[in-house]
Amino acid sequence: MISRRTALRTAGGAALLGGTAGLARAIDQGLVLDFDKPALHAWDDWNSRRHAGPLALVSAGILASSPHNTQPWRFAIGRLGVDLFEVPERNLGAMDPFGRERLAGLGGAIHNMALASTTLGRETMVRLLPDASNPLHVARIELGPEGQGSAPHSLLPAIGRRHTHRGNWLGGPISAAELRALDEAPRGPEVRLQMFAAGAPRGQRFAALTVEATQAITEDAAMMEASHSWFRHSRRDQDRFKDGLTIATSGVSPFIAAMGALLPPQSAASEGRYWLDATRDTALPTASAFGLITVADPWDRRSALLAGATWQRLHLIATALGLVAQPLNQLPEMVDRERELGRPPRFARAADALLDDVLLRPTFAFRLGHAAAPARPALRRPVSEVIGFPARLGYDVDRARAETLAQDAAMARRF
Ligand SMILES: Cc1cc2nc3c(=O)[nH]c(=O)nc-3n(C[C@H](O)[C@H](O)[C@H](O)COP(=O)(O)O)c2cc1C
Repeated sequence: MISRRTALRTAGGAALLGGTAGLARAIDQGLVLDFDKPALHAWDDWNSRRHAGPLALVSAGILASSPHNTQPWRFAIGRLGVDLFEVPERNLGAMDPFGRERLAGLGGAIHNMALASTTLGRETMVRLLPDASNPLHVARIELGPEGQGSAPHSLLPAIGRRHTHRGNWLGGPISAAELRALDEAPRGPEVRLQMFAAGAPRGQRFAALTVEATQAITEDAAMMEASHSWFRHSRRDQDRFKDGLTIATSGVSPFIAAMGALLPPQSAASEGRYWLDATRDTALPTASAFGLITVADPWDRRSALLAGATWQRLHLIATALGLVAQPLNQLPEMVDRERELGRPPRFARAADALLDDVLLRPTFAFRLGHAAAPARPALRRPVSEVIGFPARLGYDVDRARAETLAQDAAMARRF
């Protein structure tokens, strides 16, 4: 059986031999002739500020990072602002058995919406998990009267330029000033950040553990199947679903991506082998630094939202600084899988040992660095496809406020 990498290499030769079916597949994926792609319009919509008022918040929210580009969200525009709802059906199955990553994606959307609110000239209040009787209602962005807002945020242009970069990077250090800018990213008191140089002992330990965790995932049929179900091979599926992962954003060069598109769709197993190779031989060795976002309880819903918002903020800062970034979450994903199956916590113990603070646990892992070219944008469902009716119209702001304060107090007591 040939690996995807070998297959991609030999695909160049196949293309030169000129299989018309292959060429049709490459055109189908928009990789040879770059036809207009409706699944990328959401990026232009934000960059050209097509949407005004509360819809501008949704336009920014949908560009957030989400696990496997599942986009697990639904928005509702109401009298008081914009409500955000979790869509549990858009899930990653055994890759995310507790929905921890799904909530992180929603946290990223909340973060972008908060930034976008600074374009409205209205005072904004973000309420997390505002409705105790509806856990799917993950946030309300409350908009106050006009004329009381803050100035447009300096990171707004980065929202439309932030893309996950899975390619071959250039290496080299990240400057102390850049690390400081990232380290000073505002985040809730319950969220911490730990970064280490890729060549430092802890960086090397992180890399070794990430390879082990990737290998474990590739040997887990349920995890691989769940991951595979979000891979959109054909142009038709990309246009129809406007979500998930594609070969164009997998990190291979545009030429190799075009050649890879000539191949028939890959199985979950061959995708796994390619992913393990790419992680071990490309992602880890060409990174400049690694980082971990940590919280006391990764499975606490509020903490998961805040961790995702923190990732979104870090990635926007990195983009504004001209750095590239990629989440590398195999380790936290294996911690969840062990926990779900009641296995001995081998990965959990190893991940905890990367941290200085024994009270914290890693919930999000990533690499940072420099690249010669930016990454391509990923597919997105546009604003018109993600707006629905408020799940619960009789929303009680005062009650939600009291509940949020009680949650804050409960969190504070845990420290
Ligand atoms: C919680 C979470 C976990 C993620 N884990 C990974 C990962 O392990 N590897 C990776 O390449 N991308 C990961 N991503 C990035 C998403 O795949 C990416 O955001 C999505 O495909 C959309 O692409 P974009 O970020 O370029 O807009 C993760 C994102 C989130 C929010």
